[in-house]
Amino acid sequence: MEAILAACDLEFTYPDGTLALRGLSLEIERGEKVAVLGPNGAGKSTLFLHFNGIFRPRRGKILWQGREVRYDRSFLAALRQKVGIVFQDPDSQLFAASVFQEVSFGPLNMGLPREEAKRRVERALAVTGIEDLKDKPTHFLSYGQKKRVCIAAVLAMDPEVLVLDEPTASLDPLLSEQITGLMEEINRVGKTVVISTHDVDLAYSWADRIFVMKGGQLLAGGRPEEVFLQPQVVRQAGLTLPWILEVYLELRRRGWSLGPRPPRRKEDLWACLPSASQAFGQLFRPANG
Ligand SMILES: Nc1ncnc2c1ncn2[C@@H]1O[C@H](COP(=O)(O)OP(=O)(O)O)[C@@H](O)[C@H]1O
Ligand SMILES: [Mg+2]
Repeated sequence: MEAILAACDLEFTYPDGTLALRGLSLEIERGEKVAVLGPNGAGKSTLFLHFNGIFRPRRGKILWQGREVRYDRSFLAALRQKVGIVFQDPDSQLFAASVFQEVSFGPLNMGLPREEAKRRVERALAVTGIEDLKDKPTHFLSYGQKKRVCIAAVLAMDPEVLVLDEPTASLDPLLSEQITGLMEEINRVGKTVVISTHDVDLAYSWADRIFVMKGGQLLAGGRPEEVFLQPQVVRQAGLTLPWILEVYLELRRRGWSLGPRPPRRKEDLWACLPSASQAFGQLFRPANG
């Protein structure tokens, strides 16, 4: 299958000379849920800003559906309709006076007819649960509300790929869960979702595939259990084990038979735990069967 987005041998330097990406390559498949992990300064945000052409690589290239991204106006305008980015800091994204204006900007700017734009805005406000806020000035909103406005503004453009830079950072647990649910929902209707996060539990349970970055390079990529079962990757990237995987490994070490595949979600872990009587059965089963 052809990747929807790919980075090929990407190298990027900031004006002050910081080399933020050093020959990074990765591919994102259509419809995937991807999490990018890595310590602060690994280059995650810098990579994300390449995905819709905000940054232009010094070397290497970005491919959109196999075509090399060009940096002329018309290519970039088209790319930005397909790839929507939600920045980590909502204040660096919000600019309009009211929530409604903020979320309408994209669709109107795309030249959609007013009615169609309005429909999209209303849908985006509904999906993110902020209909009540539509007439509010954005600068009076709480952090979590601002975050949802930013997501709504990107959804209203109806992009094929949604890129969210640390979407759950500094959110309270309930809101964090809501945003995670929203990402699941968005993926279910066919969008490719790419996030960066420091939350190993979220990455492990939610993502189809994980990439681990460090020092502007890729340390590892693969299915969540593949990535987290490489101790040197976990160590080098300063990660910790997701709690579900840690419990699974510890129980196995203690001789529980839990099946060969590590569970990804807590429900899967519960499902593979024997009941007390089954566990005793395992212990006291007569040697001859
Ligand atoms: N505007 C900037 N000017 C100079 N260096 C920057 C700038 N933004 C980020 N960097 C540097 O680029 C590297 C990668 O940063 P970043 O992409 O923000 O990492 P991450 O998102 O993984 O924390 C770091 O060394 C960081 O200090
Ligand atoms: Mg960052």
